[in-house]
Amino acid sequence: MNKIIVAKIGGSVFSDKSKPYSLRETIIHRLSEIFGKVSKENTLALVLGGGSHGHAIVQELLEKHGKLENWHVPIINRVMEKLAMKIVGLMEYNDLRPLIIHPHSTCFFAKNSYQCNFEVAVQAVKRKIHILSYGDAIVSDRGAYILSGDDITVELALKLGIDRIFYLSNVDGIMDQTGRVIKETSLNYLLNNITITGSSGIDVTGGMRKKVESLTKLTKGTEVCIVNGLKPEIVRSALLGTRCKGTLIHV
Ligand code: IPE
Repeated sequence: MNKIIVAKIGGSVFSDKSKPYSLRETIIHRLSEIFGKVSKENTLALVLGGGSHGHAIVQELLEKHGKLENWHVPIINRVMEKLAMKIVGLMEYNDLRPLIIHPHSTCFFAKNSYQCNFEVAVQAVKRKIHILSYGDAIVSDRGAYILSGDDITVELALKLGIDRIFYLSNVDGIMDQTGRVIKETSLNYLLNNITITGSSGIDVTGGMRKKVESLTKLTKGTEVCIVNGLKPEIVRSALLGTRCKGTLIHV
């Protein structure tokens, strides 16, 4: 059966966020194998986080200039494009050749919100062409704006009318105060009752709390499955719809 699968590959999965510009090639290979197989019968819309690439360059620019300017946009773009090309290069070994959707040439931020023209992405997916996008810097009315991979994932899910999306993270799911993984919950409960702490390593887009908050834009009834991307077998069973062995959030 041909399904559209929207999945965000968190930066902490493909890189070690405490090591700038690192890449976990073995994990990328194993995930590509899985995505490669899944892509034979489904259409993939994948989104990369910034990982220790995007977050590192933004951090460097902030340290040097105090704030992000629009002329920093292409500098950040180069880093993210290179990262996307490397990962897509590794995917090719598994016969997976997604069309890359570049947010810096399709999105901008003005008057407190961002707008993306993902028409090409939607038209491609409709024709069963796999796509890959990534968190990126975009031009805005207040200097470079960092559009996270989470925002793009939500945006794509809305435009593609998807009712279940996947987040690959470096943990087994969202933990409760005692450190136990919450298996199933509503977004409302999560936002009101659970203290969601930040992520480890460099993070310029606000850590886990901001990620969970970005889900509020999704259509009511959407399901979000958060799984450990460092455990490829769990990713495979989640994508194939057998079970979300992580945290399942009902929006
Ligand atoms: C960040 O995207 C993008 C840049 C820093 C350019 P995310 O916030 O989605 O990245 P991860 O998944 O946390 O690494």
